[in-house]
Amino acid sequence: MKTLFRLIFISFALFLCACDSKREEQLIMVTEATFPPYEFREGDRVVGIDPEIMQAVADAVGKELVIQDMSFDSVIAAVSTGKADVAASGITVTEERRRQVNFSLPYVEARQVIIVPAASPIAGKDDLNGKRIGVQHGTTGDLFVSRNIGEPERFQNGALGVSALIAGKIDVLVLDDQPAKVFENKYPDKIKILAESLTTESYAFAVAKGNETLLAQIDSVLESMKRDGRLEAILGKYGVTGAPAAGELPAAEKAPEAHGAFYTNFIENGRWRYLVEGLWVTIEVSFFAVVLGLIIGFGVAVVRTTHDKNGSLKLLNFLCKLYLTVIRGTPVVVQLLIIYFVIFGSVDVSKVLVAIVAFGINSGAYVAEIIRGGIQSIDKGQFEAGRSLGLSYPQTMIYIILPQAFKNVLPALGNEFVVLLKETSVAGYIALQDLTKAGDIIRSQTYTSFLPLLAVAAIYLCIVMLFTALLGKLERRLKRSE
Ligand code: ARG
Repeated sequence: MKTLFRLIFISFALFLCACDSKREEQLIMVTEATFPPYEFREGDRVVGIDPEIMQAVADAVGKELVIQDMSFDSVIAAVSTGKADVAASGITVTEERRRQVNFSLPYVEARQVIIVPAASPIAGKDDLNGKRIGVQHGTTGDLFVSRNIGEPERFQNGALGVSALIAGKIDVLVLDDQPAKVFENKYPDKIKILAESLTTESYAFAVAKGNETLLAQIDSVLESMKRDGRLEAILGKYGVTGAPAAGELPAAEKAPEAHGAFYTNFIENGRWRYLVEGLWVTIEVSFFAVVLGLIIGFGVAVVRTTHDKNGSLKLLNFLCKLYLTVIRGTPVVVQLLIIYFVIFGSVDVSKVLVAIVAFGINSGAYVAEIIRGGIQSIDKGQFEAGRSLGLSYPQTMIYIILPQAFKNVLPALGNEFVVLLKETSVAGYIALQDLTKAGDIIRSQTYTSFLPLLAVAAIYLCIVMLFTALLGKLERRLKRSE
């Protein structure tokens, strides 16, 4: 046994060393590859303007280019925490981002543009008030809309936003000009780009603060590519014009004064409001889902025990069993997505309602089994006593059995509700801004993870503790009334 452990340990250590030594020879680039023509997937490869430029950098420094595809709101953090060397993802240079990373020279100019359905009456920026505006989560489009117009709907990537636009779930999509053009070419009779744009920006590559060597290498490759026309050739190949000419590079702006992390994450731009609103959504969804779950759970449990007792309700019992199997056998995120995209696919219902239905149906299955266990734990004599008092079967169930069963299973139910509350954290999948998503939004704006995540965790913990205390009170009260 000991030798086995030793063997496992040694091979693990060897494995780590092997990874490490390889790391030296690699240039790890992070990106979010649904952003054509800058980065997109072709087969299982990530291609586009950014990979081509980074390949030139890797060649110049004699390293192997490794591309990692992740969500856009994580690319800057991946670089600033040292998980990757360079972020090349059509990234706009902004003041906030400069606090976290250093930027190379800019390599192209870009704009945020407005995309609308082909037949939309919206003609420009002034028509946007009160409209449902979609953006890609954590992008400069997201920042512009949240600061200047109102809360946008945040999509994981531009392509999802385009689908939502075509499906009529949003009125407008704000996106970078070149990806917008690619989407417009793909659906020329469904969507159009408005002439008026919202911002002008420049893209650059991001490296960790302190990694001056790599920054200098990237800049020198960029300069030589600008001089000998290679940059223009790459951009032109993908239909982009507008590289800043050599010599007239916009000077890097001075890094803004840094505030304390607490200020940046919670006070600046009123970011704490995301947490408050998110908390409210989480509570709302959890509360109504618990109620729905209890109703379903009681119903199912009664059907099943009645069937077990006297063999009636065959069909209902079969349906209940089917429900339990399906719901307990599939992940709740998948159920949530099915309810949102398939069941409510073509109707416009509030996302909060979708979440309540999904989590309620899910929780009902677990509640049903808990309560069924509770009913079974009640002495058979109670049933007979009820019947001999002249109560009907339903009356016995409602007045004698269920109250006692409920008391017995209260701890197990409490446990289920705590699980449910935390499980609602996947609601962000349908762009619902619950507490967890609130933390994600803050993270995507401040490029720091520690404080927002800590705050979110602390808030969940507080609600759970509060809830547990209330439940304990209820339990004691019920005990006393015995
Ligand atoms: N230029 C915008 C920004 O920096 C959007 C970039 C999105 N890039 C991507 N690969 N998805 O925020």
